[in-house]
Amino acid sequence: MFPQTRLRRLRRQSLRPLFTETAVTTNDLIMPLFFAEDAAKKVPIASMPGQFRWPLAYAGAVAGDLATNGIKAILLFGIPKTKDAAASSAVSKHGVIQEAIRAIKAAVPGMVVISDLCACEYTDHGHCGILHESSDGPELDNDASLELMQRIAVSHASAGADIVAPSCMLDGMVMAIREALDAAKCGNVPIMSYSAKFASALYGPFREAADSGFAFGDRLAYQMNPANGREAVRESELDLEEGADILMVKPAGIYLDVLAKVKELGLPVAAYQVSGEYSMIKAAAQNGWIDEKRVVMESMVSIKRAGADLIITYYAQDVARWLHEQ
Ligand code: PBG
Ligand code: ZN
Repeated sequence: MFPQTRLRRLRRQSLRPLFTETAVTTNDLIMPLFFAEDAAKKVPIASMPGQFRWPLAYAGAVAGDLATNGIKAILLFGIPKTKDAAASSAVSKHGVIQEAIRAIKAAVPGMVVISDLCACEYTDHGHCGILHESSDGPELDNDASLELMQRIAVSHASAGADIVAPSCMLDGMVMAIREALDAAKCGNVPIMSYSAKFASALYGPFREAADSGFAFGDRLAYQMNPANGREAVRESELDLEEGADILMVKPAGIYLDVLAKVKELGLPVAAYQVSGEYSMIKAAAQNGWIDEKRVVMESMVSIKRAGADLIITYYAQDVARWLHEQ
């Protein structure tokens, strides 16, 4: 008890580093990248200052630059030239992501390429799969969309993706994709499941970045209710049982309670610091209201402290640079 017990003893400047419980390293970071099939030069994303839609011609150079900074993994999103109700451009052998994967693996073979598996960038209606009519109007046809996800997964893996990351929140998606990958002799490709993905307003800037806004409705019928922590654990548990290799919680910073619970399931867990989290920090920093580097590093350490093994963040390259400066 006080006065013998004084926790401040270990907080003195010289001692503090020895008692740091949580460390962030470049091994923890995954950088999301957007590739646009019809871009001729890099196009700034207005709602995410510092982020770009890259032309395919830059794929090798962008990945090389990240590798030089110590980034070991990237998560790819594609913006195709053409969209239709069936998301045909998502399964084309020469689709934007398939080409990006090939270019990156050719230029930087050691870069771990993770491909986002979803249909919303490829459908003209902007939803995450195939639609059918229901009594409430058009809605995602779960089982028809699973078949589409299987084809996208095999197409990405065949192009050279190291990991596939389904983000569509369909029931049974992990089992369906595992079966399809195994049948296509891609048994070594792990599945990083967006297992606890909430219907969050923080995806706003991403929808501009990836041109994946929807023509009608919302995603409330497939993404999770932010009020439901127990359901998030159940979703993640089911994905584990279906064969997921890595679980994910998304968004990250305001769902740390969910992250800590999902971590207890025992699989590696990724946390996605989403576009809105990036844009909020960026906007406050650009106004001079907060210290960008300190706020970002604090967010990184907090996400790790809560249980993340991996952090997907648009700040990955900055974090790598800041870690290097230390
Ligand atoms: C596509 C997808 C989204 C994000 C990742 N994959 C958008 C959405 O579900 O509406 C969001 C990422 C971000 O906001 O940074 N399903
Ligand atoms: Zn989607």
